[in-house]
Amino acid sequence: MLPQNGVEALCQALPFRGGASLCRQPEPALASPSVKPVPTEDSEEFSMALARRAFIAGGAHTQYLGKGHPDFIWKRHPDFGKRENPTLEDTLQEAVDGCLADTGVNPADIDRLYIGNFVGELFVNQGHLGSALAGTHPDFAFKPAARLEGACASGGLALLAGLDAIAAGADLVLVAGVEIQTTASARTGGDYLARASHYRRQRSLDDFTFPAMFARRIKAYGERYGLTDEDLAHFAVKAYANANLNPLAHMHSKTCTFEHAKSAHDRNPNFLGNEEFRPYLKVTDCSQVSDGASVLLLASEAGIAKLGRTLSDTVEIAGRGHAVDSLYTDGDMTELTTVRHATHQAMVDAGISVGDLDIAEVHDCFTIAELMSYEAIGLADKGQGAALAASGATALDGKVPVNTGGGLIGFGHPVGATGVKQPLELFRQMKGRCGDYQVGRPLTWGLTSNMGGDDKTVVSFAVRNHQ
Ligand code: ACO
Repeated sequence: MLPQNGVEALCQALPFRGGASLCRQPEPALASPSVKPVPTEDSEEFSMALARRAFIAGGAHTQYLGKGHPDFIWKRHPDFGKRENPTLEDTLQEAVDGCLADTGVNPADIDRLYIGNFVGELFVNQGHLGSALAGTHPDFAFKPAARLEGACASGGLALLAGLDAIAAGADLVLVAGVEIQTTASARTGGDYLARASHYRRQRSLDDFTFPAMFARRIKAYGERYGLTDEDLAHFAVKAYANANLNPLAHMHSKTCTFEHAKSAHDRNPNFLGNEEFRPYLKVTDCSQVSDGASVLLLASEAGIAKLGRTLSDTVEIAGRGHAVDSLYTDGDMTELTTVRHATHQAMVDAGISVGDLDIAEVHDCFTIAELMSYEAIGLADKGQGAALAASGATALDGKVPVNTGGGLIGFGHPVGATGVKQPLELFRQMKGRCGDYQVGRPLTWGLTSNMGGDDKTVVSFAVRNHQ
C-alpha cells in the first residue's frame, strides 16, 4: 500500500467509501444544489468502490480532425487528390504510439487492452477493434483485448472495463477510444449516429436525429424555465474560445463570437427539417463530426512501480459511476436524470461532494447538454445552468472550469474517443500539460460525465490529483 496519513487511514476503515466524506470539509458549492447527492444509505447498494486503487499514468490524443480544420482534406483543400485523411488504423496507431512514448511503458508489461468505438462498421466498414488494438504493437499479440460499445459513452465503458481489470489483479491496462466519422456527409452520418437512439421509434424525428432530440430538450427546458438563444451562445463561445487555445482541437482555427452564436443566420442556420424543433437549434449549438483517438494507461500501485514512477506522476480514479436507462422510454426532457445518477454515484464513491470539484469535463454534445449537466451534477440549481455559464464560473479562469480544451463542441467529438479523452484531459490539466489552455492554479478534484444517447448510458469518474 502507498503511505497514507492517519485521517485517510481512518476514512478507509469506514464501512463504505462514501464515509470518507466525513473526513473532508467540503467547500461551499457554487450554488446550493437542488439535486441532492445520491444518499449515502443507498451507496452500499450501488457501491462501485474499487477493490484495488487505480491511476492514470499518462496518455495521448491525436489531432481531432474534421470539417473546419485547416488540415482536413476536402474538395477545396489544396492537397485534395494528393493525400487522404488519416484512416482508423493510422489514427489508432498514432494515439497508441503517443501513449507508449508518454508513459515509457514496456508494451510487453501491459496486461490487458480495451477500446471504445461506436459504429466503426458503418463509417469505415470495420468492426472487431479489440483485434485492431492488439495489432498496434507486436508485443500485444495474444494478450486479452476487447471492444466496448455504448454509443457516445463507449470510451467511458472501455475505461470501466480497465478499472475492473485492475481490480481483478492487472497492473497495467491500455485503454483506447477511436472514431472516424468524416467518411460520410453529416446527413448520412446523422443516420449512422441515430443507431444510438431507439431507431425504430425515433429515427423519423429528423434526418439529423440527435440534433433534433436535443432541440426537443431546448424547447421543453425553455417552456419550463425560459431560455434564449443568447443563453445558449455563452456555451458555444466558451467552447470555441477554449479550442482556439488547444492545438489538438478540431475547431482550433475557427472563431465563434457572441454575435455569431446568439441568433440564427445564413452562416449559423437552424438546419433541422423537423418544423416543430427547427427554431430551437443552430449549427453553433452542435458538437462536431470529428475523427480522432485518445489512449491512456491505467496502473495499479504495483503498475506505477513497474513504470519507475511515483504517485505524484499520476492521478487517481477515486470514484466511478455508471448508470443506464431504458432505450424504449423518454424521461424528463428538462433534466439529465441518468447523468445525475452516474455523476453523484462517482462523487459518493470518491467521498466528495460537488463543492470539492476544481474542474470538470462534461458531455456537451449540444449546448443544452452542458447546461443540463451543470444542473444534474449540482453545479447549478435547476433553471440556473445558463446563469452559471454567463457568470464565467465555468470559463478557464472561473471557479470550476468546464471543458477546458473545448469540449465536444470545440475540441471535437469522435464519439468512441470522447469518454477516454475526458479523464485524460483531467490528467493533463492536473499535471500542468495543457499549454495555452492550462488552468493557472493547483487542481485536486475533477469529475467527468460521458453520455451515450439521449441520457441513456452514462459513465462518470471522480479524479484526484496526487501532487
Ligand atoms: N442555410 C440553410 N441550411 C443550411 C445552411 C444554410 N446556410 N448550411 C447548411 N444548411 C443545412 C443543409 O440542409 C445541410 O444539409 P445538406 O448539406 O444535406 O443540404 C445541413 O444544414 C448540414 O449542413 P452541412 O454543411 O452538412 O453541415 P456540417 O457538415 O457543417 O455539419 C452539423 C453541421 C449538421 C451540425 C454537424 O456538425 C452535426 O451533425 N453535428 C452533430 C453530431 C452529432 O449528432 N453527434 C452525436 C451527438 S449525441 C451524443 O453525444 C450523446
